[in-house]
Amino acid sequence: MLNSELLFYVQGTKKNIFFNVFLRWLALLMNIMISLSVALFLNDLYTGKPPSYGWYFLSVLSFWGIKFLLERRAELFGLQLSEDVKIELRKRFFKKIISIGPSYGQKMSTSKIMQLSGEGIEQLQTYYSGFMPQLFYSISATSTMVLVICFINVKTSIVLLLLSPLIPLVIMIGLKIAKKILGKYWKSYFSLGNIFLDSIQGLTMLKSYDADGKKHNQMNLQAEDFRVKTMKLLRSQLNSINMMDMVAFGGLAAGLVTALYQLKENKVTMLGMDGDTRLLGMFFIILLCYEFFVPLRILGSLFHVAMNGIWASTFIKDFLDAPVNNESNREINHSNHNISIKNMNFSYDDQPFLTNLDMTFPHHKITSIVGKSGCGKSTIANLLIGTVTGYDGSIKRLSIARALLQDPEILIFDEATSNIEEESEEIIMNLIRKISNRKTIIIISHRLSNVLQSDYIYFMANGKVEEEGSHSDLMIAQKDYAALYQYQKDLEQYAK
Ligand SMILES: Nc1ncnc2c1ncn2[C@@H]1O[C@H](COP(=O)(O)OP(=O)(O)OP(=O)(O)O)[C@@H](O)[C@H]1O
Ligand SMILES: [Mg+2]
Repeated sequence: MLNSELLFYVQGTKKNIFFNVFLRWLALLMNIMISLSVALFLNDLYTGKPPSYGWYFLSVLSFWGIKFLLERRAELFGLQLSEDVKIELRKRFFKKIISIGPSYGQKMSTSKIMQLSGEGIEQLQTYYSGFMPQLFYSISATSTMVLVICFINVKTSIVLLLLSPLIPLVIMIGLKIAKKILGKYWKSYFSLGNIFLDSIQGLTMLKSYDADGKKHNQMNLQAEDFRVKTMKLLRSQLNSINMMDMVAFGGLAAGLVTALYQLKENKVTMLGMDGDTRLLGMFFIILLCYEFFVPLRILGSLFHVAMNGIWASTFIKDFLDAPVNNESNREINHSNHNISIKNMNFSYDDQPFLTNLDMTFPHHKITSIVGKSGCGKSTIANLLIGTVTGYDGSIKRLSIARALLQDPEILIFDEATSNIEEESEEIIMNLIRKISNRKTIIIISHRLSNVLQSDYIYFMANGKVEEEGSHSDLMIAQKDYAALYQYQKDLEQYAK
């Protein structure tokens, strides 16, 4: 249940947890003193001895005052802990995204990153600042109270000691049941995030294909699924809180009944006090029994939020531990370089796609990549800018390409003029040509008329370069490029 690796994730966690627990334990001692004062007062009242009201009032007030100060201080350690955890984990998360670079999406989807860095870390924070200190506090508080009750009546303290592991046991059972439900909850949550982000990002496309209504319905279904999973999770949490309450109150009753039986046998006494202390002992036990299960019950209720945090932490940890390709961070001199791809192979999901690819994009020239849909044009662009990784062969440099892109010295236009009417397309293409004497330009396009004035053209099919050269070279060759060009030209003429 306690993920020890998490304990060391954030520096200073152990120190803050220690002080938080220690101060709360001191506050518990004050609470025991308050209980003792109240028990003495009740004993005085019951036995007919006139109680010293002022003295009792003053002692309860001062113990309460000290307890208040200790708890406040402990709270500050808890707050500090919770802030540190949140800031540290978010920092690490975003550092990791930056160190992975543009291909972070291959390790984890953007929506999942947003969900984990937001709510995921929020829940993990409860694990650190709520559950973990409470766990240590519960152990120390319970054993302290068992020890104190032991001085009044051994049997009662044994009964309480034996019953106290029942709450952690219920927690463990809850954990087993919740595991499956939690898995489904997070899966549904991530799917919902994905569909929302995808739909918002692609809203223009959805609208232009009149597909927004369909997507809307899909989103509704996904949201409903998430609602159902959330309700299931809440139900299981409430059930186990009820179970824990039953154990706590049952344990309290068992403790009191044992104490009463022991009273009958004259075995309830205040060790180290003179006279008949049976009644005083009984009052004291009643007050302590009431306090006995409180820390464990709080632990139980914090457990569920913590469980969510632990679940989120496994995804967070996987992401933080993901290997980083440092290629993109290298310092380079990027003046006057050509970019060349040599003998590059690349697979999508273990299916070879690009094979033995060779391409050169000369400095301050226009190079175009053309070909039918799905031939691999965008894949090459994505490999160059680093949003897709995992190729073999070489892109001479890839790192240079990326640095230039930041400058930006290289401009890649992947279907820059798709869905744009002819006049605007012409304006954009003219602008691209205008800047071509000071930028290295790569144009990716379906429409061959856009690439006529390129210095060099790669015509691709099925992940391979089929033909290459200038437009006139390719036209003279009279192969597939020329045929496609003629086909598109005829089609455009026909449309006019
Ligand atoms: N992330 C991916 N996982 C698996 N297959 C992919 C992925 N991205 C693209 N593909 C596949 O790889 C092939 C090449 O895709 P790519 O996007 O590079 O083509 P394209 O030439 O840019 O096509 P278009 O002209 O339609 O933009 C296609 O068959 C596509 O389905
Ligand atoms: Mg494409």
